[in-house]
Amino acid sequence: MSLDRPSRMCRVLESKRRLDIKDTTIVPSPTAAITAIATCLPSTRVTNAELSQRLDTTDRWIRSRTGIAERRRADGKGPVLAMATSAGAAVLEVAGHRTVDLVLVATSSPDRPSPAVAPQLASRLGLGFVPAFDISAVCSGFLYATNIASSLIRSGAFRSILIVASEAYSRIVDPDDRATSVIFGDGAGAALVVAGGTASGSEVLAEDWGSDGDGCDLLQVGPAGGDVRNYFSMSGREVYLRAIETMSTSVRAVSERCSWHTDEIDVLVPHQANRRIIEAVAKKLSMPADRAVVSLEKTGNTAAASIPLALAHAMTTGMVRAGDRVVMTAFGGGLTWASTALRWGEVGLAEVEL
Ligand code: COA
Repeated sequence: MSLDRPSRMCRVLESKRRLDIKDTTIVPSPTAAITAIATCLPSTRVTNAELSQRLDTTDRWIRSRTGIAERRRADGKGPVLAMATSAGAAVLEVAGHRTVDLVLVATSSPDRPSPAVAPQLASRLGLGFVPAFDISAVCSGFLYATNIASSLIRSGAFRSILIVASEAYSRIVDPDDRATSVIFGDGAGAALVVAGGTASGSEVLAEDWGSDGDGCDLLQVGPAGGDVRNYFSMSGREVYLRAIETMSTSVRAVSERCSWHTDEIDVLVPHQANRRIIEAVAKKLSMPADRAVVSLEKTGNTAAASIPLALAHAMTTGMVRAGDRVVMTAFGGGLTWASTALRWGEVGLAEVEL
């Protein structure tokens, strides 16, 4: 067969392709954007001075080793649902939305193991019979939820998704354990993710996420040290090193997907576990440390709620502006990690106390 004469089969395929092009209406897939953020913090503050009175620790040690000065504690029954409801209601109000197509809740400290928080939240917010489920990805939970929401919106399956991260670690941390009780605090954050580009919010440009179950024992809730109660425990030093390595690798991966060099990132919104971890990540990425948001001083590590709380901090301090290249990154139990790149746009903000 001559090479310059297409075979009959090739000609059939070629004419079919021409037909397909003519007959197919190309519908561009929707983009996903965050249009509003809300946070909810319990009003009870626990200072380093208070902790130093009953634990073998000092304000100086806590500040210098972590950057934390105080954290919040949720009192009362069902704090995770209560904070989620306040943050969820506030974000819907600021965005001017009365309905959404899906509700996602990220939590690793739910008020009870079952049922999930999300269906109860949807009911409390009067959102009707929408699908609703929880995501258990510990400190990466908010970004797992963001990445799920943006993927579902891009697929065309949903047009508006409420995501809420709510945590009450004060109930799962051993109050007598100085290694963990100085670090964690309670709080919640919410975001509305909708179909549309930068014109209607901060567009989600790229995601990177992953897990490594081999490290599952490094951060866990379960009986520890002969104690039969289920308390949170962690291998602090090992987690510290892995958090730096994993978040910087993930930020590099998501930046590459946007064709950005890491030094072109205007604002890095890292998980708020430890000021020294945040500074080490910025250094590894060759970024000036002042481009990384540090909001943990007044809240401690709030697990999944830490990223929306840090975003709100960046907004209220004027650190983030329209047009900025923003990368959010988190690492936590599982092990899990996730990063999300945004082009910053118009985003509403509400901050409430409970
Ligand atoms: N007050 C005083 N001393 C404390 C203390 C506290 N609250 N907590 C621990 N120490 C002591 C340790 O017992 C240890 O004493 P030793 O040397 O006599 O054994 C010493 O301080 C140093 O401990 P180390 O764990 O090496 O300190 P560190 O510099 O790594 O800081 C953490 C400890 C927990 C602050 C740090 O490891 C960390 O931030 N890890 C990551 C935690 C995290 O991110 N968790 C959530 C992930 S999502």
